[in-house]
Order: sequence, then structure tokens, then C-alpha cells
Amino acid sequence: MAVNLLLGLQWGDEGKGKIVDVLTSNYDIIARFQGGPNAGHTLIFDGHKHVLHTIPSGIFHKTAVNVVGNGVVIDPVIFQKELDNLAKFNLDIKSKLLISRKAHLILPTHRLLDAASEASKGKAKIGSTLKGIGPTYMDKTGRNGMRVGDLELEDWKERYQALTDKHLKMIDFYEADIEFNLKELETTFFAAIEKLKELTFIDSEEYLNSAIKNGKSILAEGAQGSLLDIDFGTYPFVTSSNTTAAGACTGLGIAPNKIGDVFGIFKAYTTRVGSGPFPTELFDEDGATMSKVGMEFGATTGRPRRCGWLDLIALKYAVEVNGVTQLMMMKGDVLSGFKTLKVCTSYNYKGTEVHHFPYNVEEHNVTPIYTELKGWKQDLTGMTTIEELPKELLDYIKFIEDFVEVPVSIVSVGPDRKQTILK
Ligand code: IMP
Repeated sequence: MAVNLLLGLQWGDEGKGKIVDVLTSNYDIIARFQGGPNAGHTLIFDGHKHVLHTIPSGIFHKTAVNVVGNGVVIDPVIFQKELDNLAKFNLDIKSKLLISRKAHLILPTHRLLDAASEASKGKAKIGSTLKGIGPTYMDKTGRNGMRVGDLELEDWKERYQALTDKHLKMIDFYEADIEFNLKELETTFFAAIEKLKELTFIDSEEYLNSAIKNGKSILAEGAQGSLLDIDFGTYPFVTSSNTTAAGACTGLGIAPNKIGDVFGIFKAYTTRVGSGPFPTELFDEDGATMSKVGMEFGATTGRPRRCGWLDLIALKYAVEVNGVTQLMMMKGDVLSGFKTLKVCTSYNYKGTEVHHFPYNVEEHNVTPIYTELKGWKQDLTGMTTIEELPKELLDYIKFIEDFVEVPVSIVSVGPDRKQTILK
């Protein structure tokens, strides 16, 4: 099948960047389909760490073409910084990185609106990355947004001004205590726009569908995770795009019948950054160990991630919504040393045991019910074959596979490209 999808099945930060990088040599094209610089995809190879926000994670491979799809929102300033960080690799960016004309632009005032909206929410704040994601998608669905292709039109600055003027009135409405110097922000923004215009803009749906017809293979790279999906996530504590499989169709212009495998990435435990429900969250030593060993800090914001046991009810839900065909388990190495591992296999939902992910998973409604499994002591980080893995880990994986009814095909035992075991 021409197009495979790669998606995060939890609340993001599952390690998608690493797996895209590992799989890229099998594909002609890597295409990002949603989200924007709220994402932070970390890749480690040759002893160096690289964090990408908007640029697809196949960029470091010589052969693959990387497409930023129409479903993505682009902040030209952050995009430029990413490109500056790539300069030392001497990549042929003009031909290796193609940008959809239909991708929407994040303006300086989108970021200010994000800040004003969050500030006005007080305790109910979402914990947004404050990159302007929500306001930009609001303008997209509200039919007011600015797209990359608009930059090729003569009147784009007038459009920019009209939208900015509207945003400034909206910022006033929030009466939030935020300080900003728009002139300074605009100087940086317009300089970044000029750089962006040097890149290659394409009609990406046309490009991708021609590529499919010509027998090329495509890996669609998701950002964030299924539980942050605007429809199926823990609303309203979600991001503003469809992070699930259907988002790849709308975010790239690829029809559902072109999709083959759906690779679902999950951590051997669970993390979440920002606010919102998290039934298996731990506030004890075990959670602190996961946080410390797993170095659980956001790649985009540096915020500490909340940690907890693996939630199989949530995972099964994500597997179903996405039609996952293969699972990839990340950070198994972080669980080494736990005597007992807990996995959530049902919820007590308002006094009744349930086996599905309910409408309202807030703390006062849901208590996780756990099954205990035996842990392992061995350090996994140097292991390279499935035969070397401890029996308890293989039992842990088998338990997950039986529960969600999908096989695990990759086990990751460390952040480096090389620490990846094919099962
Ligand atoms: P926003 O998309 O920046 O507005 O953030 C909305 C929610 O999604 C917040 O809880 C963020 O912490 C979370 N979020 C957004 N992007 C990511 C990501 O790439 N990884 C993990 N969480 C994310």
C-alpha cells in the first residue's frame, strides 16, 4: 500500500520522531499532516540530539522528500529557527522540503491571542504550549485564516493587516494582563516570511496523489497524540487538530482507501504535559522514578511531564479510533527495576466497572482498576535482539497485544536510532 500512517496513541511525546527517522529509509516521502510548532520531535543519532517542531522527521535522510501538508499550521519564525539549526547538515532544502500552499500561517497575534485566552481561563486553563495553535485553527475553520499560498498574492500584507487588526480587538476583549511589542514581533515575522518565500511551495494534494500513482511510498507523520485529538481526546484539554488517522486524509488530501498500515506509537507507561484528566497518573515514588529515568520534560516547552501507569483502556480506544495495524512500544527501558508493574484494564466509572473510555474521564468520575504484572531488573539499553529481552518484558508485551488485539512490531530500548529492536 502506498501510504502508511504513524501516530501517537497517548497524550503525545510517545517518540514518533525517533521512529519516523528509523523508518524513513523505507519511504520516498515523509509528510506531516497536522499540528504545528506545539510539537517537538526528538531524534538522536551519531551522539547528537535534534528537535524538530514543524519539519518532518525524515529530513536527515538523503533520499526522502519531506512535505509539510495542508493540515499543518506554520509559524514562519519558528520554522526559520528550525532551518537555521539544519544549516550545518548541508541539506538541499529547496528540493527536499516542500510546503503546502494550503497550510495556514501562525501570525504574531495568534500567539498573543493564545496567551490572552489562556490567561483569561484562570484555573481552567488548558496548559497550551502558547504557540498560537488554537487561534490559528479557529481562523482556519472560521474562514479568516492566512495560508502559505497567500504569500504569492500581491495583497497579502493587506490581508495580514486586516486579520491583525481583528486580533488586536479580540485581545482587548479578553482584558488579560499580557505585555507585548507588536512592532518588534512583526519585524522578526516579516523577515521570517521573506525566508519562507525562498522555499518551495506546492499544491501538496496534487503532488502526493501523483506520487501515489507513480508508485512512490509515503509515510504520514502525526504530531501530538490520539488523546489530544479535537474530537476524540479529553476535550476541552486537547489540541485543535485531528491527531487521529482521519486527520491524515484531510491534512494531506489522501483518500482513505490509499491508507495501508497504521503504526501506533505508545510509551510502556503514560505521560501527559499540560492540564486535563489522566486516570493512571501517579503522585508517588513510582511516578517520580518514571519522570527521572525517562527524562520526562517537554521538548517544546521544557515543562515536566506528568507520569503514570500504562492505561490499556485508553490505548485500546486509540487503537480502535485509528485502525492501528502495528504497535510500537517506546521506553521499555525506563521500566527496568520496578518489582511490579501495573496496567489499567478497566475503570470504576461513577461506581460501575466499565471496559471502555467514557465521555467524561475526569478524576471524580473515574478510578483505574489495575492488573499487576511482574517487572524485570535487567538494563535493556544495550540489547539489540528480541531474544535478549527479559521474559517479564515479553510477558508485558504479550499482555498488551492480547488486550488491544494488535501485534507489537518494534520495541524501543533507548533514544538512539540504534536502540530499536524489531520483533
Ligand atoms: P496547544 O496545542 O499548544 O494549544 O496545547 C493544547 C494541549 O496539548 C496542552 O495540554 C499541551 O500541553 C498539549 N500538547 C500540544 N502539543 C503537544 C505535543 O507535541 N506533545 C505533548 N503535548 C502537547
